[in-house]
Amino acid sequence: MFKFCIWVVVSLPILDLITLAYLNELGANPQEVILRELGNWSLILLLLIFSIPILSKIGLESLKSCRRMLGLWSFFYLNLHVLAFLIFENEFNLRIFLNDLINRPFVTFGFLSFCLLLPLAATSNNFSMKFYGKFWKKIHRLITPAIIFAIIHYFFHREAKGDFSDPTIALIVFLSIWLTKSLMSKLKRKKLISM
Ligand code: HEM
Repeated sequence: MFKFCIWVVVSLPILDLITLAYLNELGANPQEVILRELGNWSLILLLLIFSIPILSKIGLESLKSCRRMLGLWSFFYLNLHVLAFLIFENEFNLRIFLNDLINRPFVTFGFLSFCLLLPLAATSNNFSMKFYGKFWKKIHRLITPAIIFAIIHYFFHREAKGDFSDPTIALIVFLSIWLTKSLMSKLKRKKLISM
């Protein structure tokens, strides 16, 4: 039941976007709203997944069973985000995309993050877990550099507007989770807690 409730909650952003688009209420720049909402939700879900070891220690143990589902939802939003970019800004033209990849740093870092998340999404199944054994965990550690690149992407994107408040919040959240997790690993190594 818990898993189903989480599923419903994380499906709300896309339902909200579809409803607003249907009602023609996405505002003056619907393309920007769509791109931003999808990018934001992909990052929020990645940060949520990254924080599961901490949250499970403070009473949200059931979230552990939602990790894969949250990862796939994040990747779903990310694919729509990239697809929206290709449609709205690149006219599905590979040459324009390659040009953006080289000349617009925010696209470069977004793409790097996307590439790191590909193996995670591809191996988020029971077969891959068994097949890769211990290496599976290593593949899934790619979430850390993927989030770092996504936040750099966020900072570069906001450079033009000179407003770094939201990416700074994302960075602070990420660093807090990262430091807490490192501390927990140290305590675990000293056998002071179990993880
Ligand atoms: C090939 C990869 C990517 C491309 C081409 C891309 C493209 C874009 C574009 C064009 C925007 C600006 C939207 C606008 O204001 O008009 C944007 C913003 C954003 N993207 Fe990406 N993106 C990519 C990867 C990612 C990844 C991997 C994440 C996170 C996991 C992400 C999260 C975000 C966020 C959080 C924003 C800012 C939203 C806001 O300003 O509120 N993007 N991206």
